[in-house]
Amino acid sequence: MAYSFLSSLLFLVLLISATNAQSTPTLSIRKDPKTSQFYTTIQMGSNLVAINAVIDLGGPFLWFACNDYVSNTYAPIPCGSTKCEFAKGLGCVGCNLPPRPGCTNDTCGAFPYNPFMDMLVSQGFAEDTFYIKDRVSLPDYSFSCMDKDFLEGLASGATGMLGLARTNISFHKQVVSRFNLPDKFSLCLPSSGIGKLSVGPSVFPGSLQTTPLIINPVGTYPIFETGEPSDEYFIDVRSIRVDGKPLSVKNSYFSIDENGVGGTKISTIRNFTALHTNIYKPFTRAYLKAASNMKIKSIAAVPPFRACFSSDSISRTPAGPSAPAIDLVLPGKDVYWRINGANSLVEIDQKTTCLAFVDGGSDPRTSIVIGAHQLEENLLEFDLVSSQLSFSSSLLVQNSSCSRL
Ligand SMILES: *[C@@H]1O[C@H](CO)[C@@H](O)[C@H](O)[C@H]1NC(C)=O
Ligand SMILES: *[C@@H]1O[C@H](CO)[C@@H](O)[C@H](O)[C@H]1NC(C)=O
Ligand SMILES: *[C@@H]1O[C@H](CO)[C@@H](O)[C@H](O)[C@H]1NC(C)=O
Ligand SMILES: *[C@@H]1O[C@H](CO)[C@@H](O)[C@H](O)[C@H]1NC(C)=O
Repeated sequence: MAYSFLSSLLFLVLLISATNAQSTPTLSIRKDPKTSQFYTTIQMGSNLVAINAVIDLGGPFLWFACNDYVSNTYAPIPCGSTKCEFAKGLGCVGCNLPPRPGCTNDTCGAFPYNPFMDMLVSQGFAEDTFYIKDRVSLPDYSFSCMDKDFLEGLASGATGMLGLARTNISFHKQVVSRFNLPDKFSLCLPSSGIGKLSVGPSVFPGSLQTTPLIINPVGTYPIFETGEPSDEYFIDVRSIRVDGKPLSVKNSYFSIDENGVGGTKISTIRNFTALHTNIYKPFTRAYLKAASNMKIKSIAAVPPFRACFSSDSISRTPAGPSAPAIDLVLPGKDVYWRINGANSLVEIDQKTTCLAFVDGGSDPRTSIVIGAHQLEENLLEFDLVSSQLSFSSSLLVQNSSCSRL
């Protein structure tokens, strides 16, 4: 009797710890169909103010409009403090208006950036409690206020951006230091339904491919110190195949030079993958040829796209339109990121479907910027302990999706 009680108690304890191990801190992600931005809803401060923040994989920290923000746990980060240095604060800011969150003196300087306006704004760093779920909180979470005049371009209802870059105060960094987890996070952007941003060890049961995350030696944020590397995530794409055939493109576009130019990064705020003109042209040509081989009918292109097709001529599968495969070839034997129809094509209207890649111009800083449309319904795991990216390719092919994970 006593034995059986003890063993069931033990069983219960094991069950509880197993359940705890499963519950990694997670935020839900939704897509704004109008802008194709992805956002999450967080709660901040003593009044649990709900804020919709656009997910920015390359963003250094959280910022949101504080004009009407009220919280009695809000505290500015003073200039010269350890926390200011940790956040890489620049200079010291003051304010001549009545004090409120976002308007304080002797405050550690922050430069939140709105990429949709291409606007860098002088503000101050602050800290307050960040609520992931009602009872899971991150006290003293570092972020920056923004003035509400600089929210243009954000999805309707969004008043901030949540940064996930390789900085000390990105979202995952503040979560892992609070909960003592390894610095890993996974991101699944939904095409519809609800996606996820989870911090900590992976819980994905399926198989993933892995490739090193590489460091661009030169900063890519609009403001950075000389000699500091970029905080964004780059991978070493070596070539691109369309329908199994490699494009003929100069190798130098794929590598990052000493000025930080070239290479491939991942972005959640560019809606479509942008390719250097000298990659885009042979890419589009090869795709049109491969599509024509599949009897997909080419029609007049709709800008910004250069290759569009009659939707009727494309057959459908449960995993999306049946279209020529695009592979981003990565280092190692047989490692590549396959982009299937659901991620390579976008339906403009009922009749028109276009190749969802855009021309990045002849002088882009980064040759390939993998955009959000190509990331949808793909699980990405960023492991910053071993500096590796694991990726699933389209979950739809595995009869899964971000909302079903
Ligand atoms: C893509 O992004 C651009 C620039 O942010 C925006 O103007 C455009 O509406 C977006 N396109 C779609 C289809 O979401
Ligand atoms: C993190 O903070 C430390 C201590 O202030 C600083 O030396 C380091 O450069 C910071 N790292 C990053 C990636 O910002
Ligand atoms: C900042 O200091 C100036 C000069 O002492 C003062 O006039 C101003 O009211 C202060 N601002 C805030 C927000 O406390
Ligand atoms: C796909 O998954 C759904 C729900 O998980 C299941 O009901 C369905 O039978 C699956 N279909 C196939 C072809 O495996």
